[in-house]
Amino acid sequence: MDTLTAIRERRSVKRYDPDFVMPQEDIDKLLELAVLSPTSFNIQNWRIVAVTDAEQKQKIRAASWNQAQVSEASLTLLLCADLNAWDNEPERYWREAPEQVRDMLVPMIRQFYSPNKTLQHDEAIRSVGIMGQTIMLAAKAMGYDSCPMIGFDPVKVGEIIKLPKDHVIGMMIPVGKALEPARPRSGQLSLDEVVVRNSF
Ligand SMILES: Cc1cc2nc3c(=O)[nH]c(=O)nc-3n(C[C@H](O)[C@H](O)[C@H](O)COP(=O)(O)O)c2cc1C
Repeated sequence: MDTLTAIRERRSVKRYDPDFVMPQEDIDKLLELAVLSPTSFNIQNWRIVAVTDAEQKQKIRAASWNQAQVSEASLTLLLCADLNAWDNEPERYWREAPEQVRDMLVPMIRQFYSPNKTLQHDEAIRSVGIMGQTIMLAAKAMGYDSCPMIGFDPVKVGEIIKLPKDHVIGMMIPVGKALEPARPRSGQLSLDEVVVRNSF
């Protein structure tokens, strides 16, 4: 499936075949594609909790307004981020770059993020958002469906997945084999309303 088709055909699917088990090689492939998503200064601040264990999925479902897709989808991903990735040995993010580039960029990472907690949090959510779309499009191209979700209690889900204190959960994405298609699109805004030409 080409990229444009994947973009057009990706929908938020709510019902999945609970008996389908996603092969490990597909899970690996999806995660390998996910981490090709771009991040600011290449800080790769996302951390992905890949949940396949039925009991763990049930617990997360209970903390997600009992939404069926959380446990029925074969794979439920919690896209988290390390809020301190910018400060966690940032040399590694540029270790294969030419020395001159590394020497210039690595100090800039701390200068850019260290004074600004809001920016650190925004960067976490930005990175997770971009990765989320990578995952959903890759899943579609691989013959799966998905559903981005924020309908869960982040404190409870954080406890279930043992989220470290300096991490946040940005989004949940169940991925699996659809049992039912998504409902027709519910009300797309026109380009005229959404696109602003040159300035507001
Ligand atoms: C950040 C985010 C959170 C969402 N949370 C939920 C959710 O908790 N449960 C759900 O069923 N759908 C959720 N959705 C799906 C949206 O309702 C859906 O993306 C929107 O209606 C557009 O439909 P489409 O994704 O099929 O194009 C969420 C979508 C996004 C982007």
